[in-house]
Amino acid sequence: MVCLGNICRSPLAEGLLAAKLPPNKFIVDSAGTGNYHIGKQPDQRSIMTAQKNGLDITNQKARQFTARDFEEFDYIYVMDNSNYDDVIELAKKEEHKKKVQLILNDLFPGDNVDVPDPYYGLQNGFDMVYEMLDETCNILAKKLIEKHP
Ligand code: 4NP
Repeated sequence: MVCLGNICRSPLAEGLLAAKLPPNKFIVDSAGTGNYHIGKQPDQRSIMTAQKNGLDITNQKARQFTARDFEEFDYIYVMDNSNYDDVIELAKKEEHKKKVQLILNDLFPGDNVDVPDPYYGLQNGFDMVYEMLDETCNILAKKLIEKHP
């Protein structure tokens, strides 16, 4: 799960997807394309939104996406079109580019819709992001479980 800061959207996406998959079968991680928040806990507003919904994301620590992630992960889900461009720029092989997908394309196929960046907004932006990610991760988890039984 990749966003810009790895403190607002992708920590929620990581927590949500991990909670929907059987434990010990999949590795779900997140990273940011930017380096501003390396080592930090998720934003308090993401932590609060998750907590309200019974999800604990306090153990996460921000890190930056690196080209090594193309080798280590089978699927790379980005939150918005700008994350998509930044990640694709780091891909040197066609097979790596193919791993990168916009996360909302599972919910709205082919529409290339962004998960809006809630960082500069209010708490309700985080609630909206949570709802979108919850819905798309339901579809995603189902697909992954079917593909990797
Ligand atoms: P995120 O949100 O990409 O969902 O983690 C942001 C967090 C921090 C900044 C931008 C977006 N920032 O500019 O510091």
